[in-house]
Parts: sequence; structure tokens; C-alpha cells
Amino acid sequence: MRDLFDRILENKGPLGRWASQAEGYFVFPKLEGPISNRMKFQGKDVITWSINDYLGLANRPEVKKVDGEAALEYGAAFPMGARMMSGHTEFHEQLEQELATFVSKESAYLLNFGYQGVMSAIDALASKDDIIVYDVDSHACIIDGVRLHMGKRFTFKHNDIESLEKNLERATKMAQQTGGGILVISEGVFGMRGEQGKLKEIVALKKKFNFRLLVDDAHGFGTLGKTGAGAGEEQGIQDDIDVYFATFAKSMAGIGAFLAADKEIIDYLKYNLRSQMFAKSLPMIYVKGALKRLDMLRTMPQLKAKLWENVNALQNGLKERGFDIGNTSSCVTPVYLNGSIPEAMALVRDLRENYGIFCSIVVYPVIPKGLILLRMIPTATHTLEDVAVTLEAFSAIRERLQNGTYKRLSAAVAAAMGE
Ligand SMILES: Cc1ncc(COP(=O)(O)O)c(C=O)c1O
Repeated sequence: MRDLFDRILENKGPLGRWASQAEGYFVFPKLEGPISNRMKFQGKDVITWSINDYLGLANRPEVKKVDGEAALEYGAAFPMGARMMSGHTEFHEQLEQELATFVSKESAYLLNFGYQGVMSAIDALASKDDIIVYDVDSHACIIDGVRLHMGKRFTFKHNDIESLEKNLERATKMAQQTGGGILVISEGVFGMRGEQGKLKEIVALKKKFNFRLLVDDAHGFGTLGKTGAGAGEEQGIQDDIDVYFATFAKSMAGIGAFLAADKEIIDYLKYNLRSQMFAKSLPMIYVKGALKRLDMLRTMPQLKAKLWENVNALQNGLKERGFDIGNTSSCVTPVYLNGSIPEAMALVRDLRENYGIFCSIVVYPVIPKGLILLRMIPTATHTLEDVAVTLEAFSAIRERLQNGTYKRLSAAVAAAMGE
């Protein structure tokens, strides 16, 4: 018999195998200084394109004031216990009401973390007789939620309505046998590639099939739609989203999340979301902080307007220079380049050290082998000068990638990794 740790020590996992080359620089980097468009990385000033503080709320004095006052009044712990037992306050309720109104749903329920909340929502919504049909490129929290499901599940090809339809046909047949229903899951915005989920087309299928739709709108909330209510508002189908989810970890620059739906559904979820029933309630610092952030999100449309000015300048500039930014239809700005993982490492090092540009790098196995994805998140704190500097830098690194500079620089790493 093997020791449990033998396998773990032999195989660190698809990302873990890069730890010795990557840790502290490409992964687990330490960005320092106030959260903004310019921060410090290893003592150098960098333009930061990797922080989901879309509306630039994280470091605003009026936001930090509310956070600080709540910390002084309540400490970090209050309220203690799960919502159901002892962790409930009038401010939790107030925030839920305001969130529900903002996203045009009857009711909302707070979650202490989005990830666990989505998992639990899937677990609570689908019984073993129900069938789940979900986009194959779904966020890890959806995949893990589906893993909890005891019944059948089907994936559909990413954002492919024909594939969804085929799988709905299969799911419908199966549901007729089990006596269950169907839960379809998609995202408002797919966070790696920036494509909006085809929610309008998905809800159109409700005419043909009987299903309920859960949408994870982590990146859409605050950034899309006329009022910032997200991808459902943007696509004009918010009413047809049966269960809406968004996190506070992006536009709201905090921690926590919420689900919104018809009152009866939220009433059910309150008593059946295991990750909330058996875990501590969202602390008051985050509840009071979220009330302030939501108020700013609603009343300061100039923040979203500035965000989009930057998004458009960056995305148009990249396209004009011939970069492949895929099919993004959100603020998430991917730049696809061809190259190996060692080349990607040399390129990102060049960007950070010589051009002062900090963006996230995504490689295989998250995306196909041979592709490098530089993922950029514009925010309202960026300036058009940041965009101009970044576009120049990108043109320079593309040239160095194409003329083999990074291949030469990375030859030793490539040899060591057997690439
Ligand atoms: C699409 C998506 N869903 C869910 C989550 C998890 O949310 P949280 O950070 O609140 O746990 C994230 C990441 O924040 C996300 O990008």
C-alpha cells in the first residue's frame, strides 16, 4: 500500500510543477502600495492590469472611511455565528433588499464567499432527479458545484447554442424518466476570455424547453448594463434569469457575494444553502462596506463611464495594432500570442522589468498548448496615458517574441523543463 502523500510529492499537479520557476514572480507575486492603476512590484513602479477593482472603489477615501468606521464600531468579528443562528443583523437585511432592488429581483441572500455560495446554490437547487446542463468553460466554482450533484449532468460547448439545444434534448428525455427538472448554468461574462454568455439566446430556448437558468455574473455586475446591474440588464433579459449571482470581489472591491431571485426561491435557499447554514455570516465591515459601495455604484455613473473609456481605448488600440483579443464583449481584455510556456515567462519578465507593465499570464493547461494569454483588466483608475504606454510596450514585446528573442532567453528554462 502506498502512503497517501507519495502521489502528491511525485506529482504536484499541472500548475504546481512550475512552482520552482514561477512562485513569487509569475504566481503568488506581491503587489504593494494602495490598490490602483500604478503599484509596486519588487520595488519597481508598474502599471497594474491584473486587479478586478473595475470601478476603482477599493482605495477611495470615502469607501475606506466607511470600512474603517465599521471596523472601529464592530471589530472584525461581529456578528458571530451563521446567519440562521446568531449572525443576522438589520444591515444584512438592508443590503439584501437594496441588492434585490438594484438587480430587479424580488429578493436576495448574502453569501460570505461567492465560490462556496455558487457551489451550495447548485447543490440546493438540483436534487438527484434533476439534470444540470452547463457551459464547458464554466468557472471552477460552478464545476465544483456540479461535482456535488448526485444526478445526471451534461456540458454544452462553450457559448454554443446549438450544442446547448442538443443537450437540452438529451436532458429533457432523461428528466422525463427521472421525474426531475433541468437547471442550465452559464456566466454573465467568462472571466478568462471576456465573452459575455449568450444569455439572450439561452433564455429564448425557454420557449422550446422547460428549464431554469442560473447565471454567475461575477464580472458583469457593476460593469455591464445601463445601470450597472450586469449582463442580464445589458442583454435585456434580466427577468428571465431565474437565479442571479454576483460577487463583491470585483466591482464592489470587497468580500462577499449574493444570490437574487423570486422571494420563494430565496426563502428556500436561506434554509438550504449548506455553505451559509454551517459557516460564519459576512462580518459587518463587509456588510457596511458593501452598502457604501452599492450606493456609489448606483449614484456615480461616471465611474462606469471612465472604466469603459479605458476599456475602449485599450481594446481598440490593441485591435488597430493587429493583436488578437478574441471575442471579448466585456472589460476583460485578453491578448492571445503564440509561444511556449518558457517563452511566455521571458516575455512577462521583459514586460515587468523593462516596460513596467504588470498583467496576468495564463498558459496551458488553462488554455490550449502553444498559446499565451495575457489577461488585462482595465479599471476606472487607469488613465489614457497608461493605455498608450501599454500599447507601445505590447508592440515591442510582440516583435521580440516573433524574432526569437524570448526563445533564446528561455532556452535554459525550456531545457530544464523538457519543453
Ligand atoms: C466567475 C466567478 N464566479 C465566482 C467567483 C468567486 O467569488 P468569490 O471571490 O466571492 O468567492 C469568481 C471569483 O471571484 C468568479 O470569477
